[in-house]
Amino acid sequence: MRRECKEGGQTNRIKMKLVFLGPPGSGKGTQAKLLCGRYSIPQISTGDILRQAVRDHTPLGEQAKAYMDQGLLVSDDLIIGIIAECLRKSDCGEGYILDGFPRTVPQAEALEQSGEVLDHVFLLEVAEAELVGRLTGRRVCSSCNQEYHIQFYPPSREGYCDRCGGELLQRKDDKEETIGHRLVEYERRTKSLVDYYGGKGKLRRIAGDGNLETISGRIRQELEDIDR
Ligand code: AP5
Repeated sequence: MRRECKEGGQTNRIKMKLVFLGPPGSGKGTQAKLLCGRYSIPQISTGDILRQAVRDHTPLGEQAKAYMDQGLLVSDDLIIGIIAECLRKSDCGEGYILDGFPRTVPQAEALEQSGEVLDHVFLLEVAEAELVGRLTGRRVCSSCNQEYHIQFYPPSREGYCDRCGGELLQRKDDKEETIGHRLVEYERRTKSLVDYYGGKGKLRRIAGDGNLETISGRIRQELEDIDR
């Protein structure tokens, strides 16, 4: 494992293979984006890949849409195929953050069997009531995909994107009843990964409450501590 991190405007670089794990709304995507920007490694979000496929009406999107709209996980085979293709890309050789994958034990086993050796799995822990508030309040620009939150990060003009003026919409799976299904799927199919990675000595628990910078600071601190 090699790691470089220079402060003061210079490029930071970190050579690690990380997974962000946690229930829907725990901040995996938000924190992965912050850390990837800081350390110049790619973020691989299966949720983003699937949503793009749905928007593009590809065969993958057509297969995944019904599951996603209901808050259910799409099939392991489909997801494992997507990840294998992403990890073959040259920019993933030295490190990445997987955000939203693996989400089942068979997905974790497939990743391991493909020869990928993860450095750490960060589990973001957030109380359920907070998760629901974060997800129901999210709005996404229909044109440029910029995200807002009606309470925490509202746009200057209600309902419209600050960046491009596009209309802000709620994700179908962010409706309260669908969030319930997503949380059940997490409990039923994903939570067992906590023990799976705990048993391998890879799991790092991070308190996921507080503002974005506080949480990001906790993750960076954990990385610093591991490195010592
Ligand atoms: P995916 O997009 O991965 O959804 P998810 O994990 O269920 O939930 P989110 O991405 O919404 O949560 P997050 O933890 O990333 O939080 P975020 O940073 O976005 O997957 C969508 C669907 O695709 C799945 O349901 C499934 O159908 C399918 N899928 C994807 N991967 C799959 C796989 N591997 N296997 C099978 N199916 C798969 O933040 C959420 C909100 O909270 C935002 O509004 C954000 O602004 C806000 N927020 C974040 N941090 C804070 C904070 N500290 N304070 C206040 N608000 C915050």
